[in-house]
Amino acid sequence: MTERQILIGKTVAHVLCLMPALDLVRIYRNGSLVAQADPVNFITHFTGDWALWLLLAGLAITPLRRLSQGVGWQGLNGLVRFRRMVGLYAFFYATLHLLTYVLLFSGYNVPAAFAGLEAGRLLEPWRQLQIIWPAILDDVRKRRFIQVGFAAWLILLTLAATSPRGVLQAIGGRNWQRLHRLVYLAGALACVHYWWLVKTGVRTPWKVTAVLTVLLGVRVAFGMRKRNSIPPERRKKGNREATGVLT
Ligand code: HEM
Repeated sequence: MTERQILIGKTVAHVLCLMPALDLVRIYRNGSLVAQADPVNFITHFTGDWALWLLLAGLAITPLRRLSQGVGWQGLNGLVRFRRMVGLYAFFYATLHLLTYVLLFSGYNVPAAFAGLEAGRLLEPWRQLQIIWPAILDDVRKRRFIQVGFAAWLILLTLAATSPRGVLQAIGGRNWQRLHRLVYLAGALACVHYWWLVKTGVRTPWKVTAVLTVLLGVRVAFGMRKRNSIPPERRKKGNREATGVLT
């Protein structure tokens, strides 16, 4: 892929990744959102779905690139340049999802927070959060799907915070790569989150789980092939990071 193609591709990718958020704004403004049976539930599911789909899309990039190389087609090599962006959009939707939970799902008094700000009480949003905090903690304690969802979000936060090139240089490529493999754990936790929140007998999360399993399987297979291609004398004990199953 040429630099020009990458630039055009990135612009298109930004537009595509922002489209769900813009669609949400559109349906809010034209009144279709409030016409939903449960608007808050709609936003929670909408943002959760997009966070998970984009997470999987980001995870699909490396296997797609390697598969294309395997069949002698170099056309998808530049795809790796989109991985960070797609991952950050997954984090963006996961954060909207979390904010929906805190600000809309848990009874946060948004009008009171705004009224306070307008009246010059800058700590009012924080005060409102303190009011609902015990209810949130209680919910987190009781509902384990929220605990795993939160764990997945924390991983995404860590990966987003360490995604800049400067951090990569500071901690070293190998450490960075190891840390960023946690994205698979985030994907797995997000799937568990989904399975645990649906009613018993509902199988809706099977598709995302199957996609994640295939992506992980392909990545492990590539890692093993790479490992086996290294002569045994060079495969030192404890040198797993160089020949790691997932690299
Ligand atoms: C940050 C902490 C999180 C909280 C508090 C949270 C909370 C919730 C809640 C309350 C629901 C709706 C449950 C219901 O219908 O009863 C939900 C659904 C969902 N969440 Fe999360 N979640 C979190 C993190 C995540 C993350 C990180 C992802 C994905 C990367 C995710 C993906 C989903 C999906 C896919 C659904 C179901 C959507 C559907 O049914 O269409 N969640 N979450």
